[in-house]
Amino acid sequence: MGLTGNSRIQNNQLRQKVMSAQAAAEFITSGSTVGMSGFTGSGYPKAVPLALAARMEEKRAAGEKFRLRVWTGASTGPELDGALAKADGIEFRLPYNSDPIAREKINRGEMEYFDMHLSQVAPMAWQGFLGPLDTAVVEVTGITPDGALIPSSSVGNNKTWLDRADKIILEVNRWQNPALEGMHDIYYGTALPPNRVPIPLIRPDDRIGQTTFRCDPNKVVAIVETDAPDRNLPFAAPDEAALAIAGHLIEFFRHEVARGRLPASLLPLQSGVGNIANAVLTGLLDSPFENMTSYTEVIQDGMLDLLNAGKLRMASATSFSLSPAAAATMNANMGAYRHKMILRPQEISNHPELIRRLGCLAMNGLIEADIYGNVNSTHVMGSRIQNGIGGSGDFARNAYVSIFMTPSTAKGGKISAIVPQASHVDHINQDVQVIITEQGLADLRGLSPKQRAEVIMTNCAHPDYRPMLRDYYTRARQGSYGQQSPCLPGEALSWHQRFMQTGSMKM
Ligand code: COA
Repeated sequence: MGLTGNSRIQNNQLRQKVMSAQAAAEFITSGSTVGMSGFTGSGYPKAVPLALAARMEEKRAAGEKFRLRVWTGASTGPELDGALAKADGIEFRLPYNSDPIAREKINRGEMEYFDMHLSQVAPMAWQGFLGPLDTAVVEVTGITPDGALIPSSSVGNNKTWLDRADKIILEVNRWQNPALEGMHDIYYGTALPPNRVPIPLIRPDDRIGQTTFRCDPNKVVAIVETDAPDRNLPFAAPDEAALAIAGHLIEFFRHEVARGRLPASLLPLQSGVGNIANAVLTGLLDSPFENMTSYTEVIQDGMLDLLNAGKLRMASATSFSLSPAAAATMNANMGAYRHKMILRPQEISNHPELIRRLGCLAMNGLIEADIYGNVNSTHVMGSRIQNGIGGSGDFARNAYVSIFMTPSTAKGGKISAIVPQASHVDHINQDVQVIITEQGLADLRGLSPKQRAEVIMTNCAHPDYRPMLRDYYTRARQGSYGQQSPCLPGEALSWHQRFMQTGSMKM
């Protein structure tokens, strides 16, 4: 039963619980754990976190602390992570974060951050490994007459938060288009071992659940009505490097199709977060591939372009991650997209069983890769968190082909993205099959570490850094303790010290 007429809250019992954001925030106490909706800047609560931040600031001014343990789907928006971090109100946070104020707090050691695989958040919450969940604060598009909740622009962990929390606060956001109803597929069949059963999803467009969240009305303590847009940053326009990377990727796919290793419509695409991943999708607009599908975590602008152009038949994800312009366009035309998109809980969009079964082509960004193909996606100079692992581990380990992409240098050419030894490893070399930079592509499948090093240095490293890498590798071949993956550990990491001291890796 869906929304009819003007009201977004069609259940009489729940309508009695409408109140201001300030009154709703009073239900949340310092030290408690709050499960918030929100995934990559979509579908996060926008009023209650701001009211909480105001209370935190008041307490702080009075010399008292008001801090929370915050769980989300992934990154949220400035009204949530930004406002709470600014008020010094987050004691502990999980999982993925991309908010700059929260990032600063984490890197100053003022906020504990548990960066985990996104597919594992809901199972770990159910397993009881994360502790109790006091309150869920979840944005929805509307409430049906029978009290079911119509999800908004992200699903994330909302199903789990609503089921696990003692208390529920709902934000009903009028900005979210009611035509979102029917786009979601909420699967309630997951269970803990020993009662787990196979998930009955065979194709990316299969629907295996229901379109709404169930919700115990007796747990709902407050409902807040809002009318506010999702807020995300615009993507950078694809530059020359991004276009070159897209070109290498398309060439690789053509080659795989020609060799009979991929079907002509490819396999379901997974595309990671960030500018490069988005730019590469835009590049696929000019590819020969038709009738493509996507089984991924986020739908970005580039994915929307592919859908609009008819190159992509459908996309399955857990969330939108759109620039402000694309979000406004999509929100205005939601009805046209409803049958081409499916939003699922993140434990399903990122489920290793499903990724392996569907044979996803995983395409993710990186910070640095070493000459053996170990990838660092998260820590600049090995210690400073950029965002988090997100879903890259879920996809990379289980993909049909696991591809990582990056410009060959960062910081205006001062730092090489290809290094002797990664200063932090998120993806071990066994989970990295192809690396692409604007310089070229390294197909690492079936290669030993020393063979990988040759291909990565030759094809992917920037010419300015190739002699340094070669010099290192030659000496490692001579002086290394073993010859399986030759290395000189102390020297490898000194590349980063050099950057810190001189502002450039080059000397
Ligand atoms: N050394 C130092 N800094 C580096 C660097 C390096 N080797 N590589 C990148 N950076 C910095 C950039 O300079 C930039 O910093 P700035 O914001 O201060 O300018 C920042 O990292 C982001 O880099 P950018 O070039 O804009 O890349 P991006 O937007 O394509 O994002 C990742 C790249 C790796 C940060 C991003 O893909 C990510 O967070 N990945 C992990 C999560 C993930 O893969 N999720 C997808 C799963 S579905």
